Amino acid sequence: MAKKTAVSFTLNGSTVDVLVEPRELLIHTLRDKLAHTGPHIGCETTHCGACTVDLDGQSVKSCTILTVQCEETQVLTIEGFAKGGQLHALQEGFMQEHGLQCGFCTPGMITRAYRLLQEIPDPTEEEIRYWMAGNLCRCTGYQNIIKAIQYAARKLRGEVVETSHPLMAEVSL
Ligand code: FES
Ligand code: FES
Repeated sequence: MAKKTAVSFTLNGSTVDVLVEPRELLIHTLRDKLAHTGPHIGCETTHCGACTVDLDGQSVKSCTILTVQCEETQVLTIEGFAKGGQLHALQEGFMQEHGLQCGFCTPGMITRAYRLLQEIPDPTEEEIRYWMAGNLCRCTGYQNIIKAIQYAARKLRGEVVETSHPLMAEVSL
């Protein structure tokens, strides 16, 4: 068995210490050792984006990163989004605009969209499509995902947001 290496990094604001083999991928450390099962395994070949996390201010596909590369980094996963029982604007947007069906891709979508809105708070639809191109959804058209990100962008900019989804609008009456 390969010699294990101690790795320490910050995960959603808390320091974590893990012992990993040099070949271990971050997605497996998160899911199997740290019980963070929000990042999903879709393809394990860098195509689908289901495993997306934010690492030191960049979106990365955690099936492409070795855990030993994460020493002293800051990692944000979907588990770090809701605060004090309040959903993040992106989580709310995906709910309000019905940006999902099975939800398998959603943690990666939200994490990638988070990085987009950090870099471009008022993105055009074209910019959203460009930024989200590495995140695949097998269930939906992408239109509601785009609306969900637009919803969150408006909310984060402090604008009053109303859902454009007719069923959700009825629910919130
Ligand atoms: S599981 Fe990582 S990109 Fe698909
Ligand atoms: S909602 Fe099912 S894969 Fe995207």
